[in-house]
Amino acid sequence: MKTVRLGVIGGGLMGREAASAIGRWFALEDYPVNLELVAVCDLQPSLLEWFRRVPTVRQLTRDYTELLSNDEVDIVYVAVPHNLHEEMYMRVLQAGKDLFAEKPFGIDHRSARVIADEGDRLGRFVRCSSELPFLPGAQRVIEAARSGRLGRLLDVRAGFLHSSDLDPAKPINWKRQIATCGEIGVMGDLGMHVVHVPFRLGWKPRSVYAQLVNAVQLRPDGRGGMAMCDTWDNAILHTTINVGGVDVPMTLEMKRMAPGETNTWYIEVAGTDASVRYSTKEPKTFWMFRRDKDQWWQKTDLGFQTPFKTITGGIFEPGFPDVILQMWAAFVAEREGRLGDSFGCVTPEEAVASHALFAAALDSHREQRVVPVG
Ligand SMILES: NC(=O)c1ccc[n+]([C@@H]2O[C@H](COP(=O)([O-])OP(=O)(O)OC[C@H]3O[C@@H](n4cnc5c(N)ncnc54)[C@H](O)[C@@H]3O)[C@@H](O)[C@H]2O)c1
Repeated sequence: MKTVRLGVIGGGLMGREAASAIGRWFALEDYPVNLELVAVCDLQPSLLEWFRRVPTVRQLTRDYTELLSNDEVDIVYVAVPHNLHEEMYMRVLQAGKDLFAEKPFGIDHRSARVIADEGDRLGRFVRCSSELPFLPGAQRVIEAARSGRLGRLLDVRAGFLHSSDLDPAKPINWKRQIATCGEIGVMGDLGMHVVHVPFRLGWKPRSVYAQLVNAVQLRPDGRGGMAMCDTWDNAILHTTINVGGVDVPMTLEMKRMAPGETNTWYIEVAGTDASVRYSTKEPKTFWMFRRDKDQWWQKTDLGFQTPFKTITGGIFEPGFPDVILQMWAAFVAEREGRLGDSFGCVTPEEAVASHALFAAALDSHREQRVVPVG
């Protein structure tokens, strides 16, 4: 079986999550390519030490240019703070490697455009991370929306909700400051997860009215003082999409401060003939609305119907590490030209479109008006 080899830059939360998912590559069934993690770069020696537990890793370095000079590496996954995306993504592409980028794909709209253009110019395979649409419930929503059986669309609502920032004593980190996270704040953190499915269904906003909230503006700096927390905590984007010549409202929510929500991703699509909804709050449950004499919300228990078949039994329930594996399987399959009809990772054009939306949202909030997107 063909083996492709991966290097990771940034061995923090997501770098290790990727290593853990790829470590179960053998669980994929009837899958044509093997993916092996061979090289890791991080600035922190303790994290590099952690990667010694991955038997295939042969290079550990604190200098990412050394990893890029490694001829063994075919693909590079970069999971670092947003202010470093542009420089590192460009260097990956220029080193002749394919790129699996973390969101938000550059710190702002300009940066995303520059990266996407370089990938095009050099003919590299580039995709961006967003794993939750690979959950079976999300896939059922996509299937229903594509089937045409929802009738005329009435509205779409999608969101991603966190709550750990509700605690004002939580120390600051790079995700809470413009310099490292970007002016778009929570939209850069959570937004790609929210727009991936709507964009893939062709639902790209034409206009946006944004409400942005920065609820906690100072946080402990971890050294006994306080630091400015200057990014947006919550964003509610009221957008308009056009589906079949008809304007449809689509509301997108991204919140770091949503009481009680630890990692809740949801999508709801309402139509005149049928409606669907799915939330990770009830991860096994897919809801479908139908009407005859009465009106019904039907609840279906889902199992392990992931896009890429694994050895896991069909009645078992998938979790976060499983969808990370599914996302990587989609990335590698598409790179090999073997994705077929399966759902794919975020494309550079979708990533750029997400930044266009978030940039318009910043304008909308500042000017308190509806802003065209594009
Ligand atoms: N897909 C998802 O669900 C998801 C979840 C969280 C974060 N992310 C994204 O992943 C990326 C990383 O986030 P994280 O939560 O893993 O952050 P993190 O802070 O846990 O990890 C970042 C790592 O980058 C390393 N680093 C910083 N500068 C470096 C350099 N010059 N060279 C090498 N390594 C360097 C740090 O030492 C750290 O270990 C961000 O783009 C973030 O938006 C995605």
